[in-house]
Order: sequence, then structure tokens, then C-alpha cells
Amino acid sequence: MSIRITSTSPGSFPAVRGRRTRMSESLREMTTEHRLHPSMFIAPLFVVEGEGVKDPIPSMPDYYRLSLDLLEKEVKELESLGIWSVLLFVKVPDELKDNEGTEALNPDGLMQRAVKKVKAAAPGLCVMTDVALDPYSSYGHDGIVENGIVQNDVSVEVLAKMAVSHAAAGADVVAPSDMMDGRIGAIRKSLEFEGFSETGIMAYSAKYASCFYGPFRDALDSAPGFGDKKTYQMNPANVREAGREAQLDEQEGADIVMVKPGIAYLDVVRGVRESVSLPVSVYQVSGEYAMIKAAAEKGWLNEEQAMMETLIAFRRAGADLIATYFAKNAAKLLN
Ligand code: PBG
Repeated sequence: MSIRITSTSPGSFPAVRGRRTRMSESLREMTTEHRLHPSMFIAPLFVVEGEGVKDPIPSMPDYYRLSLDLLEKEVKELESLGIWSVLLFVKVPDELKDNEGTEALNPDGLMQRAVKKVKAAAPGLCVMTDVALDPYSSYGHDGIVENGIVQNDVSVEVLAKMAVSHAAAGADVVAPSDMMDGRIGAIRKSLEFEGFSETGIMAYSAKYASCFYGPFRDALDSAPGFGDKKTYQMNPANVREAGREAQLDEQEGADIVMVKPGIAYLDVVRGVRESVSLPVSVYQVSGEYAMIKAAAEKGWLNEEQAMMETLIAFRRAGADLIATYFAKNAAKLLN
């Protein structure tokens, strides 16, 4: 638990030489403090309507929006690589968007069909679903807008129904990414009431108002139509508040808490790890992926090394689970 860096015998050189345990591969392996394993990865997947669609996302090189038939193939591959979990997002056509996110509750909507597809194709996979209104919202906000403001309590009601709809489709875990107050408790209560007491909740507890979501909003066409998300997502200057948010979500019934983004928020991962006893996940978001890809394309960074170094940093900071667009490639490398 403690991150205090201890030294038992400071200054006793040459008896003490740190390099001794770095001199051979065997010693480096033996003294490795943290390791990665494919079971720690959550693979985010973007789903679109259609057939045979593998739609490139310009700001996320080598990442695609997939139609249901190709999604089926993809999840089988992920499962064969030792990945246990996928996190589903859908791209919703403009004509189905409205302020209330009505389409989110459609029992035959794309998300609901995607959950069933993945469950049938790879029954052992843990299917997680994004719960937030932005892909369904004509305003591109995570909740219902009234008088130019994203309203908390009416949004929470819709989010709870959305979570139930995902659970009914077969989701193992719902993942509310909206940052409304009280939504974890409301979702938990609705799930219990509707008979889904085994469905889990992965709460985006400390989700910051970050520029690093840019490429994701390109992928789902979900950028806010006005303003920004600062009235609900957290201020990047705050860390104590993250511990408090995580504790509240724990009390409200979350099963896993999440910190997002990742690499610029490692202190938050550590802080949340020490604030709650639940499993902690971290989301290495689209902009982090894009930065590494772009630098690698230019020949300025080694992609594999940058990928693995950032992933191990999340472990070192205290994350149990890592949602990352590198999940498949990192798993391949680890196998
Ligand atoms: C929206 C949501 C976002 C991400 C996950 N869910 C974007 C946002 O809040 O605007 C970002 C993921 C990423 O950038 O990879 N509820």
C-alpha cells in the first residue's frame, strides 16, 4: 500500500550498489516489482451499423469502428489472446439523436444488439457497456440539457433506465461515464429493483474535463454542440476531490472505480487506490493513444516501447485494470 521509498542503509557505498540487481536479465526479472498480464486489459470497442464495416478513425490510426459481424470476429480474437473484458461504445446516426437520448433505451438499439452479439460469440468475456447520453444526445452532452445547462437529476433517471436496458441485453458490467451526481446509487437501485442484482457497476469516479478525449469524439461523432463538459467532469487541477468521488461511488454501490485519463493522472490513480478498497481501473484514453501513434509514425518514438512503458506506469501507480486501445497489441506482445 505504502509508496514511501525506503532506504535501509543510505550512503554505504561501495557496499551498497544499486546496479548489482540490474546487471543481468535474470536479476532484472527477479527484482521486477510490477508486471502486466492480458487479464488486466479492458478493450474498448466502437460499434456501427452495417455489415462488413471496418471504418478507420483518422485520429486513431489502426483503430476502427466495426459492424456487428466484424465485432464478433474481433471479440473472439481478443478472448483467444487472454483478454477478459471489452467495453462497448456505439456510434449513433444523427437522425436518432435527441435531447433525452431516447434511442439509448431502445431494446433493439445498436448497443443492446452488440451486447447480445458479443455474449453469443464469446460467452466467457465480461461485457461492459458505456452508460452516458453523449452518443445519443443532439447536444453531444452526457445528460439532458435545459436552459443551456446539463441537468443532473433528470439525466440520472435516464441513465438508470439505460443501465437496466444494457443489463437486460446481457451486459455483465455497466460503466457510467457521465459524471452526474448520485448516478451510481440510482443505477444500483434500479438494477436491484429490476432483478439484475448480479450486474456490476464500473464507475468513472474521477473523470476529468480533458482535451485528451478529442479523437474519441471524432470516432463517435459525439463532441459537445455547445460549451464544454466542465460542469460535470472534474477540474484537472484537483486530486483530493478524486478520492472523495471514489468514496462516494463506493458507498453508492460501485464494484470498480475508474480514473480517466491515464498518463497525466497517475497521482490520481495512486490517490484513488488509497482512498477505496475496490478494484481500481484506469483509462488510457484516445488522445494518449493518438499521441503515441503520431510520434511513432514520425519515427520519433518506438511505439511498442512507449506502449509498454505507459502500461506498466499504470500498474506502478496502483491500477488493477487498464482500459486501453493498445489491449490487443500489448496482449500479443505479452503472450
Ligand atoms: C463519454 C465518454 C468519453 C470517453 C468515454 N466516454 C468522452 C467524453 O467524455 O467526452 C472518452 C474515451 C477516450 O477518449 O478514449 N461519456
